[in-house]
Amino acid sequence: MPFIEWAEEYSVNVKEIDDQHKGLFQIINNLNDAVSEGKAPGVIDATIHKMIEYANVHFATEEKYMTKYHYPGYQEHKAEHDQFNLKSLEMNGRLKAGVYVMSTEILRFLKDWLTNHILVTDKKYGPCFNENGLI
Ligand SMILES: [Fe+2]
Ligand SMILES: [Fe+2]
Repeated sequence: MPFIEWAEEYSVNVKEIDDQHKGLFQIINNLNDAVSEGKAPGVIDATIHKMIEYANVHFATEEKYMTKYHYPGYQEHKAEHDQFNLKSLEMNGRLKAGVYVMSTEILRFLKDWLTNHILVTDKKYGPCFNENGLI
């Protein structure tokens, strides 16, 4: 069973964004596999970098539409993305310092943050995006 599994309950009703969320889940599963298979620190480091990069592409997509459609919750939403980036950078710094035992904590954080953020925060813009013709 995958570590984190996309299900219909995570849908925000916009295909492009659902697909990106699925992509993020996939990278987190890859990271979980790399950790549980005891892959070399370099592999884990590269996967975390890929995850951070992909998360930023994804955040930029959401922020682009929120701005375009004058979504009223934009500031609070962006603040959550910024928090995530700060936390990711901090974790990355600790990994670089050689604290590889952090992996389980990182995975737990990623899973909790992402599922909560989608279910609570991302879901709120769905109706606004749909009203503007984005489905
Ligand atoms: Fe978001
Ligand atoms: Fe999202």
